[in-house]
Amino acid sequence: MLTLNKSGKISGICQVPGDKSISHRAVMLAGISQGATRIRGFLNGDDCLSTLRCFQQMGVAVEMKQEEMIVTGRGLAGLREPDDVLDAGNSGTTMRLMSGILSGQSFMSVVSGDASLRSRPMERIALPLRLMGASIDGRDGGKRAPLVIRGGGLKSIEYTMPVASAQVKSAVLLAGLYASGTTTVIEPRASRDHTERMLAAFGAQISIDGLTKKIVTTELKGTEIEVPGDISSAAFLMVAAACLPESHLTLKSVGLNPTRAGIITVLQNMGADIEIVNLRTNGGEPIGDLIIRGSALHGTEIGEDLIPSLIDEIPVLAVAAACASGETRITGAQELRVKETDRISAMAEELGNIGVTVDTLPDGMVIQGPQKIRGGMTHSHGDHRIAMAMAIAGLMSESPLSVQNESCIAVSFPGFEKTLRELVVSK
Ligand code: S3P
Repeated sequence: MLTLNKSGKISGICQVPGDKSISHRAVMLAGISQGATRIRGFLNGDDCLSTLRCFQQMGVAVEMKQEEMIVTGRGLAGLREPDDVLDAGNSGTTMRLMSGILSGQSFMSVVSGDASLRSRPMERIALPLRLMGASIDGRDGGKRAPLVIRGGGLKSIEYTMPVASAQVKSAVLLAGLYASGTTTVIEPRASRDHTERMLAAFGAQISIDGLTKKIVTTELKGTEIEVPGDISSAAFLMVAAACLPESHLTLKSVGLNPTRAGIITVLQNMGADIEIVNLRTNGGEPIGDLIIRGSALHGTEIGEDLIPSLIDEIPVLAVAAACASGETRITGAQELRVKETDRISAMAEELGNIGVTVDTLPDGMVIQGPQKIRGGMTHSHGDHRIAMAMAIAGLMSESPLSVQNESCIAVSFPGFEKTLRELVVSK
């Protein structure tokens, strides 16, 4: 159990762990490329370790040399048939992106995961991958994992995506590496574009015209990847520093890809004092240091256009909304209902447990602030982002706040508790 007390401020300098989305992609693209890829800053979180184990199971060699991970790729068609079920654990990114790659392999594979992942929708990737020629079976009429994939002989498609999802887009683009002809994906709104950027870095022939992405088959070449700090992990500390007056926090080397940086825009709209310094680019990804000073926050509106750029940050934004004066209205976020848990009802329930009233909507929530955070017992629902959002609420609560079943935090932010305790200045 993790217990937090009211804190005066957050102060110091910190480097958050590597970006989860980029770490997954680095291992996957390295595994199907030719030659060695050197990865620095890989996230040693449970989700990315699931990806790593799956690719090792398919014959990809991985070696650690000091700070670097060296992955020796087997080329596009060189993966080995896995001799057992590929276990994606709690990771939707592992299951969905890897299914795109497995659809291009001429062997059979079975992909499964934990109870949360087995309950999440997989039809969104199975449908386009079947259109490309893969055979994908699964529970619930092929809609849920375990998935049985028989790949090979793919043909290209033009696919207009019904939901803005980077995982669906990436699964189709990765399968497109194996298809005859040009594979086209058209997004309804811009989702995170790490796959596109990294494919280009590995030498893929990918072209981008607004929301339309096209790819043709090419062998990939190993490269060097520097994984920036994860803005989705930084978000918890950003909200803590923004809400606690007199805070002064520097977060070093955070990934600032515009398709991920919605949290900065929204916190600034709420009156937060956030400065970006030392802006640079590495491996096609913008990186910078963030300086956050505590200030009085006010409510805001977050609509569907911004949602894909901050989808994973909404649990902690709900905590910021409880501390801010006035109404915060979040809409167009129905995807939250199919994350590691239903994050709309989980946040409403857990904030309710500590005295904060949340009005839920089918696609979001409305929070009137400021509300007194009472403290007490909360539960993670086995979801890393719920656990960390509630821990941040603990820094603002009247009496101690505990989070039960918090071990899931290791999915994306190993060392979260230690990092937080080092930055907290007691009241
Ligand atoms: C991710 C995409 C997002 C995000 C998830 C990671 C990725 O999901 O919520 O945590 O790495 O591609 P969508 O597929 O809904 O965009």
